Amino acid sequence: MSTTSVPDENVTLRRKVQPLKIGDLVVDPPVLQAPMAGFTNYVYRQIVRELGGAGLQATEMISARGFLAIEEHADEFPDRLWGVKEEARPLAVQIWDNDPETLAAVGSRLAHEFKVSVVDINFGCPVKQITEAAHSGSYLLRDPDRVGRIVERVVQACAPTPVTAKIRLGCTRDCVNAIDVAQVVEGAGAAALTCHGRVAADYFTGSADWSLISAIKPHLKRIPLIGNGDIDSAEKVVAAFERYDVDGVMIARAALGKPWLFHQAQCALRGEPIPPDPTLAEQKQLLLHHFELVLRRFGEQKGVLLMRRFACCYAQGQYGARAFRTHAAKLKSRAEFYDIVERHFPRDGVELDPKYVRRQKAD
Ligand SMILES: Cc1cc2nc3c(=O)[nH]c(=O)nc-3n(C[C@H](O)[C@H](O)[C@H](O)COP(=O)(O)O)c2cc1C
Repeated sequence: MSTTSVPDENVTLRRKVQPLKIGDLVVDPPVLQAPMAGFTNYVYRQIVRELGGAGLQATEMISARGFLAIEEHADEFPDRLWGVKEEARPLAVQIWDNDPETLAAVGSRLAHEFKVSVVDINFGCPVKQITEAAHSGSYLLRDPDRVGRIVERVVQACAPTPVTAKIRLGCTRDCVNAIDVAQVVEGAGAAALTCHGRVAADYFTGSADWSLISAIKPHLKRIPLIGNGDIDSAEKVVAAFERYDVDGVMIARAALGKPWLFHQAQCALRGEPIPPDPTLAEQKQLLLHHFELVLRRFGEQKGVLLMRRFACCYAQGQYGARAFRTHAAKLKSRAEFYDIVERHFPRDGVELDPKYVRRQKAD
């Protein structure tokens, strides 16, 4: 693989960034909230929507086979589709499997019954449960013909709802085949392609290679290319558009603890000053609001477990975050959550002892 190339931040916007089009859907701004299993649930999406700035939001990935089985045996839908029918649009729902017919059956339901804005297919997940056990996700990148058959069937089944694909650069560093896969995806009728600039074998190590994402673009005739990987500031969103040949940018991990990042990116892309991060007091309020919504949606037992993960994301990078995380990771009840946030959430204006500054950065 070539040298890594995460966009650096010292760039100002010199060209106007256009909204991107996924079929007839206009994604404006062209900054997308990534699908993330275990995180981008109904409540997280609501928080992002309240703060604004994401041109398109996505659900967690949903097992197409699981969808059909749950429906057959329990006459229900997967929990991950909770609220999706009524939720604000635009909204993309991501599905995974390796069987064209299964994916087409579920894609059709999502398009015509749930009326989602976009059906996205996962060809990027590197987790063994999905790859080795289910021969799905990034496992399929080794077989572009099968990717093509899947996309073609799902496109037919979902029409006129647009179908998109999310890939990695390839399975391994010896087999970077994103250009081949991208051409197959476009040829099969997809409406956009997102590429995460790592190979599956990388998992999340190293850096996303934006040069290799960008190299896909000249090979696409019709559909937009969305770049993804390691974008954690509005400046990096701007730099991605300035330095690389992409039509859109997708953000995942950084926006878990900074859901306001989309709004900052939107301002930066308009050439406006980037709003500062909320104060720590405001961040604390947002975390409590997030918790209230989670309690309403998931109840106390499940909600508290879920908030262990989110609470840890919120305080990241702040002085005292490590101590807060240690407490948050053991949360057991609603009362404990409020107590720990009150006592341990990082505060504004805490004097930093210089000997702690290095440790703070490590947090
Ligand atoms: C916890 C976690 C769950 C994820 N779940 C999904 C998923 O369901 N579908 C998917 O396409 N990608 C998933 N991803 C990958 C992200 O969408 C994204 O491609 C990756 O994190 C790189 O972007 P980032 O550097 O902005 O985080 C997941 C990543 C993480 C860390």
